[in-house]
Amino acid sequence: MAYRCVLGLLTLALSCRAEPFNTFDGPGHPACNNVAKVYNATSVEEMQTIVRDAAESNTPVRASGKGHMWYDTMCSDDPTTVIIRTEDVNKISDLDLPEGASEGSVMIEAGVTFLQLAEYLHTNGASVGYTLVNWNITLAGSIAMGAHRSSLREDSMVAAGALELHIIDGKGNITVVKRDNSNDDWLAASTSLGLLGVIARIKFKVYPDFKVYAQQKILAEDQVLNGDIYGMIQPYATANLWWWPFLKKFHHRYYDKVDINNSTQEGFQSTFSVTKTEADLALGILNAGKYLATSNQLAETTFFALWSAPNFHEKTTDKAILTWPVYGWNYDVLIGGLYPGYGTEWDYGLRGLTLELAFPVTQANAVLKRVRKAFDDSAAAGKPMTSTYRSGINIKFGKAYFDLLGQVTTNTSDGADWSKGAIMFDFPSFQPTIGDKLRYNEPFYHNLAQALITEFPCRPHWTKNTREVFTLAKDKIDASHLARFKKVREKFDPNGIFKSIVGQILGLYD
Ligand SMILES: Cc1cc2nc3c(=O)[nH]c(=O)nc-3n(C[C@H](O)[C@H](O)[C@H](O)COP(=O)(O)OP(=O)(O)OC[C@H]3O[C@@H](n4cnc5c(N)ncnc54)[C@H](O)[C@@H]3O)c2cc1C
Ligand SMILES: *[C@@H]1O[C@H](CO)[C@@H](O)[C@H](O)[C@H]1NC(C)=O
Ligand SMILES: *[C@@H]1O[C@H](CO)[C@@H](O)[C@H](O)[C@H]1NC(C)=O
Ligand SMILES: *[C@@H]1O[C@H](CO)[C@@H](O)[C@H](O)[C@H]1NC(C)=O
Ligand SMILES: *[C@@H]1O[C@H](CO)[C@@H](O)[C@H](O)[C@H]1NC(C)=O
Ligand SMILES: *[C@@H]1O[C@H](CO)[C@@H](O)[C@H](O)[C@H]1NC(C)=O
Ligand SMILES: *[C@@H]1O[C@H](CO)[C@@H](O)[C@H](O)[C@H]1NC(C)=O
Repeated sequence: MAYRCVLGLLTLALSCRAEPFNTFDGPGHPACNNVAKVYNATSVEEMQTIVRDAAESNTPVRASGKGHMWYDTMCSDDPTTVIIRTEDVNKISDLDLPEGASEGSVMIEAGVTFLQLAEYLHTNGASVGYTLVNWNITLAGSIAMGAHRSSLREDSMVAAGALELHIIDGKGNITVVKRDNSNDDWLAASTSLGLLGVIARIKFKVYPDFKVYAQQKILAEDQVLNGDIYGMIQPYATANLWWWPFLKKFHHRYYDKVDINNSTQEGFQSTFSVTKTEADLALGILNAGKYLATSNQLAETTFFALWSAPNFHEKTTDKAILTWPVYGWNYDVLIGGLYPGYGTEWDYGLRGLTLELAFPVTQANAVLKRVRKAFDDSAAAGKPMTSTYRSGINIKFGKAYFDLLGQVTTNTSDGADWSKGAIMFDFPSFQPTIGDKLRYNEPFYHNLAQALITEFPCRPHWTKNTREVFTLAKDKIDASHLARFKKVREKFDPNGIFKSIVGQILGLYD
């Protein structure tokens, strides 16, 4: 590919020295294969200046929060691309939640993470309710990519909490887009894939802080595959399933609100905390599983046993909590973070690949049975499959929420009934660190993705899939939604400086 070194003499050297911009998984895991420069912006005004300069030289530019995505789909493949890291643009202001009010709002900048916002709000007696995803991720990056929690009862798209999106457009000007379902600017901005510009500020909905409980039960596989899946999820504020296909079991996790006075426990959840010793042990077993199914089966059995106990500590003492249900403050229980002194799996070299597809929840049983058939066929062919992830295969759900490119939008031309919400099949798997680094029975993953996409109405998660999956799934996205989105994109970014691989695969630059 020819390098276009267009930024002038001073920056020439930099623009030509294209190198990868990595995801949270670090070197070897590019979010963008080639970028010319990474700016650590420190203010909204500086981000505008960077975009204006980029616009003048027609240089591609993408914003990045915490890089908490999986594949090389953040940018286009143009090596002159520049990145604006938003981490240091993270002011929180204008908290407005009057005493006794049931909801209010707060203004946040691009780099604000869930953890940062939750701490600020908790101190001030507020919370964001159920529109949250994970701790070390920005709200702007989540909204851009349509990220969501798991709920059929409550709005859980992060975008559902946004009241205003302040977007730096392709000229470097800020456009304020307000929630308004009759305006295509809003319906595009609500899941923008970052293609309208940099989300610089968000006015976000808040609620009085509250406590929740977390409960978890074990179900036999048959109880789910032949059960009322909607009925297992819809009654709760947030709920999901974790599938253990070798053991033929599920964990059923659910959460709901409790009175502030219900318990003095302050549970703090951690999904990713590990010690170096645990990680080394897991790495050994899982790497052996590249070649040996029995090693994967040992891993799944061990992970299942560990995951059956609460993954919570008491926040005030950092002592493990041993029994369900667990009680605590909204954010701590729903997300939490890392236990003091622990690292993440990826800090210690445990890395994963993933695939996430959404289907109408009305077809939940059919989808899971189709996956079961794939597992059975593979076992019959001498290649039994397992979950190689510490919390199993994540089955999430999403209440319907209308916008143009969201995973849980409704009223689409595929004729499927998305109005009751969606089931998401999120299949994380261990990526071996040895040999050719391919997974045990690698073709299985590709064949399964292809089968599910071909056989069901579906939508990909926008940061948890490969280019291959987006290419297969693009025809499943409503053509009229894409056309409406493209019009808004052309208005905000006529020269396509914010383009990404995802946008290109969707045909938004054709
Ligand atoms: C451990 C972990 C847990 C996760 N859990 C969930 C989950 O439960 N549910 C779920 O739906 N997703 C989940 N995700 C995915 C995550 O929510 C998305 O990938 C999210 O986009 C990451 O945000 P980020 O701030 O790290 O952005 P980055 O990874 O830096 O960027 C992601 C994309 O958003 C764009 N972008 C970032 N900031 C902006 C901005 N200010 N303006 C415009 N575009 C921008 C980037 O260009 C890029 O295309 C998880 C990811 C990880 C690593
Ligand atoms: C930007 O910030 C990151 C993370 O703190 C750091 O690794 C990097 O060196 C910084 N880049 C510049 C140019 O300062
Ligand atoms: C958040 O992620 C960054 C990398 O983007 C890492 O340096 C930092 O330690 C993480 N913080 C927490 C609290 O996990
Ligand atoms: C947008 O920005 C350009 C260049 O910075 C400026 O000339 C123009 O007046 C702005 N347009 C609007 C509508 O603000
Ligand atoms: C909670 O307890 C406090 C003090 O014990 C009491 O004043 C308050 O009314 C209780 N609130 C509820 C909702 O029960
Ligand atoms: C707390 O709330 C849960 C769920 O509503 C309920 O089952 C439990 O009995 C309550 N406990 C107390 C001590 O009030
Ligand atoms: C559903 O889509 C059709 C065709 O795109 C449109 O005419 C109609 O207004 C939409 N209905 C709602 C509720 O959005």
